[in-house]
Amino acid sequence: MSDLIRVRMEGHDNRHELYELIRVFFPNRGIEFVDEDKVFPDGLTIKSILMDRIDKNLAITRLYRGGDLIKESLVNIDDIHIEGYPTRKIIRNALKKSIYDCLIDEVEMDIPWGILTGIRPIKIVHEMMDRGLDEKEIEGILASEFRISRDKTQLMLDIASIQRRHIYPLDRDKYSFYIGIPFCPSRCSYCSFPAFAIGKDYDRVKNYVDTLVYEIQELKGIMEGKWLNTVYIGGGTPTSLRVEDLERIITTVKDTFKDDDIREFTVEAGRPDTLNDEMLGMLKSTGIDRISINPQTMNPRTLDRIGRYHDIKSTISSYQLAKDHGFDIINMDIIIGLPGESIQDVAHTLEEIESLDPDNLTVHTLALKRGSRLLNQGKDLSTSADDIRAMLELTEAKAADMKMFPYYLYRQKQILGNLENVGYSKLGKECIYNISMMEEKETVMGLGLGAVSKIYFPDEDRIERLPNFKDLGEYSRRIDELLLKKKNFIS
Ligand SMILES: C[S@@+](CC[C@H](N)C(=O)[O-])C[C@H]1O[C@@H](n2cnc3c(N)ncnc32)[C@H](O)[C@@H]1O
Ligand code: SF4
Repeated sequence: MSDLIRVRMEGHDNRHELYELIRVFFPNRGIEFVDEDKVFPDGLTIKSILMDRIDKNLAITRLYRGGDLIKESLVNIDDIHIEGYPTRKIIRNALKKSIYDCLIDEVEMDIPWGILTGIRPIKIVHEMMDRGLDEKEIEGILASEFRISRDKTQLMLDIASIQRRHIYPLDRDKYSFYIGIPFCPSRCSYCSFPAFAIGKDYDRVKNYVDTLVYEIQELKGIMEGKWLNTVYIGGGTPTSLRVEDLERIITTVKDTFKDDDIREFTVEAGRPDTLNDEMLGMLKSTGIDRISINPQTMNPRTLDRIGRYHDIKSTISSYQLAKDHGFDIINMDIIIGLPGESIQDVAHTLEEIESLDPDNLTVHTLALKRGSRLLNQGKDLSTSADDIRAMLELTEAKAADMKMFPYYLYRQKQILGNLENVGYSKLGKECIYNISMMEEKETVMGLGLGAVSKIYFPDEDRIERLPNFKDLGEYSRRIDELLLKKKNFIS
């Protein structure tokens, strides 16, 4: 029996949306869109039909197995009223809802995010809150129109209400910087971020820092009349640079934008093996408010398995050294679903982290990304959906024990169990940049290799994107061309 799922659309073309949703139900099966109006004798055939009639608008899904119709579901589009929602989106939702209703009994798993497949689910809650809907109304819509579970609905509402304290009032002149440092001590096997192992050729790093410093200085003129709200130096691993180079980048920002009274300055000090007294001393003395020290896991065997060449001791000692230096906010990133890890392993990681008592905890669910070594190793890496869910629940409970609240959330493609990444924080210690970047209610200028700038237009509640070059040589050679584009983009 073929594993292939064939999909035929009639009366509409929402291929991408349908593909993403069907893949949630059948993550390991091939999905093929067909033009032929035919029911195939093998595998599953799904017909998604938009019936657009004067008296009736219907979204219909028919599911066939081995040539026989086994289920049909029907959504009456005229019955859907979501205040302020454009017709185009209502139709798309109705088509997805009818697919969901048809497939949900075919699989033995919950689909807690319902028909939502996007990266930024909290945005729809903000949209509804902006239109004046109250929590009860929003809850009702998320359940009936999006098929989102009660738990996720509550999570979305909790996060949105914390975020709104930081997002509003909107200001078209406010912006943040994301500064990318694409170098790391070595490459972890799960990672697909732009990051080069720093190696012995430090000249290319020097050259990169020169270009970056130039880009920062030139942005002063480009952003004239606006004010810099937050700065995030990420990567890669910024602390894999020499201390004097990272210091040069930080002080260039601080000196160039000294009139802006920057509210938050984060440096991802990610890999514990890049931290020592000198580096942490420099970060503290240059006025960095928030750093990340990322264990990913507290199990030594997993660290080896994922090619992260530091030990648990260095995570703990770097953290304690950072505490001694008096950092206000320390974040820790972990990943659940790492190869070979059980629920007990995750519980152990969380206990170790609890004893360190960081201010923020960011929980990632492993995403098997194209371009990562892990995916290409061809081993069976899968943690069962039930285990992933249990791990995620454990992190939720532990964050609550640590008096932390969820404050931002995003989802990724290829994420295990089709779940989510959640940032937790002690109250009042939330990372404002993470909220701005995720909810897209503020302009973010991306500096450095592959960074993406996004301008926000509050009046139209929309963003425009402009990516930087992704090739190191091109980024340095064509920096003036890039700056001209940024100037035109802003003006
Ligand atoms: C851009 S990385 C940089 C962090 C820093 N270099 C480090 O390794 O600690 C930010 C975070 O993304 C998460 N991450 C990276 N690749 C991931 C993947 N394939 N699946 C889930 N989380 C991932 C890790 O938790 C990591 O700390
Ligand atoms: S996880 Fe961090 S240290 Fe590892 S390769 Fe990715 S960016 Fe570099």
